[in-house]
Amino acid sequence: MSRTTLIDLLYLVAATTFLVALKGLGSPKRARVGNIVAAIGMAIAIGATFFYQDADGKGLAHVNLMVLGMVIGTIVAVPAARFVQMTAMPQLVAIFNGVGGGAAALVSVTEFMHIKNEQPPTYVVLEVLLGVLIGTVSFSGSAIAYAKLQELMTGRPITYPGQQLINAIFGVGSLAIIVALLVSPSMTFLWVLLALSFILGIAFVLPIGGADVPVLISLLNSFTGLAVAASGFTIGSNVLIVAGTLVGASGILLTRMMSKAMGRSLANVLFSAFGSNVTASGDGAREDGRTVRSGTPDDIGVLLAYASKVIIIPGYGLAVAQAQHVVRELADELEKKGVEVFYAIHPVAGRMPGHMNVLLAEANVPYEQLREMDEANSEMSTADVALVVGANDTVNPAAKADPSSPIYGMPIINADQAESVVFLKRSMRPGFAGIENELLFDPKTVLLFGDAKDTLTKLVSAVTNS
Ligand code: TAP
Repeated sequence: MSRTTLIDLLYLVAATTFLVALKGLGSPKRARVGNIVAAIGMAIAIGATFFYQDADGKGLAHVNLMVLGMVIGTIVAVPAARFVQMTAMPQLVAIFNGVGGGAAALVSVTEFMHIKNEQPPTYVVLEVLLGVLIGTVSFSGSAIAYAKLQELMTGRPITYPGQQLINAIFGVGSLAIIVALLVSPSMTFLWVLLALSFILGIAFVLPIGGADVPVLISLLNSFTGLAVAASGFTIGSNVLIVAGTLVGASGILLTRMMSKAMGRSLANVLFSAFGSNVTASGDGAREDGRTVRSGTPDDIGVLLAYASKVIIIPGYGLAVAQAQHVVRELADELEKKGVEVFYAIHPVAGRMPGHMNVLLAEANVPYEQLREMDEANSEMSTADVALVVGANDTVNPAAKADPSSPIYGMPIINADQAESVVFLKRSMRPGFAGIENELLFDPKTVLLFGDAKDTLTKLVSAVTNS
C-alpha cells in the first residue's frame, strides 16, 4: 500500500470517528464518549498529515513552525477549556470557532497567493475566495460575539439608521470584489475583500442581542465549517472537506432547531434586534398595582415536603447561581420523604443547547430524572408543585395565550397546569425576552426571592426539618 493510500485510509478512519462522535453527542449519556472519539479521530488526522508527501516525494515544509503553533495552541486552549465557568461556555465556543474561521481564511489567502499567476479554473479561484470571505466573516463576527458575551461591550443589540441597507451594501460589495477577482486576480483586490469581509462580520453581529448570540454562534460555526470545507477543496484535503461539511451541516441544523425552540424564525433572530426594548419593570412596581405573593423558605419547605409529586423546572438562573448541586440535594431530600421528583427540561432553557443537561449532569443528577418538555408536560397536571428555579420565558404562558407577545408560539413547559407554582428568583426582573410573566401574578404562584443557591439551601433545611 502506498503512503498516500495509507494516509487517505487514516483520513477515512478520522472522518468515520467524527460521524460516530456526532451521534454520541446526541445524548447526554454518550456525549463524553462522543467527544473522546472525535478527539482521537482528530489526533489520527493530524498525525497522518505529518507523513504527507506530494507527487515529487516532497514532505511537509516548516514542520518545526507547525509543531510550535500546536504547542502554543495547546498551552492556551487546554487551561481555557478546563477552567471555563459553565456560564461562560458560549463565549469559549465563540472564540474557538472564530479562530477556526480565521485559520481557514488564512489558508485560502495563502493559496490565492500561490495560484493567482497560474490561471487556474474559475471554480478553483471561486472556492478560494469564498474561503476568504466566509472564514473572515466568521472570525470577526465571532470576535464581536465573544466581546458581547464576555461583557467587554454592551450585550444589547447595537442599531443605527439604515443599518440593514449598509450591511447589504457590504455584502453586495464583497460579492462584487469576488467577481472582480475572478476576472483579474490581484492582491490589491484580495486585501479589499479581506477588509470588507472583516467589516461585514462585525456589522452582521452588532444588531444581534447578547442572549441571541448563542444562535448566531451556531450559525457562525456553520460558516466556519463551510470555510474549512472550501480550504479542503483548495488544498485537496479530503479530511478537511468531510470535517468542514459536517460542521457546516450540523451547525445550520442546530441553528434552525434553536430558533424553532425559541419560537422565532432565523431571520427574526438575526435581523430583528431582539432585546433592544425591555418591557417589564425591574423592581416589581406595576402601573396596575397588582402584587405578587411571596413566601418564606419554611412555608415553601412544608409545601414541598408534603407534596406527592414535585416537578423542578430549571432555567438560566440555575446556571447563574451555580445551584446545580444544591438543587440535587433538595431533590434527594424530597425523595427520602417519599416525594416523586423529576426535572422538566426545556430545549432552550439557559443560554446554550443542552445547558441544563450539562449542569445537572455535573451534579450527578440521574439521567432518568430528566424529562424532555413534552413528556414533562404530559404529567404537569398531576404535579402538586412546579418548582421553577431561575426559569422565566420557558414557563411564560404568554407564549401560548398572547399573540402580541414576542415569544408567542414558543413551546413552553406548562408550569401553570401544576396545582401550585413556586418561583425561585431574585427580583421581578424579566428573563431573556424582556417581557413580564403573568404566571408570577397567578394566585396559585408563590415567589421565594433571592439567589437560587441561597434559597435552595434554605429549602433543603426546611424540608429536612419538616
Ligand atoms: P430566562 O427567561 O432568561 O429567565 C431567567 C430567570 O432567572 C430570570 O427571571 C432571573 O430573574 C432569574 N435568575 C437569574 N439569576 C438568578 C439567580 N442567581 N438566582 C435565581 N434566579 C436567577 O431563562 P429561561 O427560562 O431558562 O429561558 C431561556 C431564554 O433564553 C429563552 O427566552 C430562550 O429563548 C433564550 N435563549 C436560549 C438559548 C439556548 S440555546 N438555551 C440561546 C439563546 C437565547 P431575576 O433576575 O429576578 O433573578
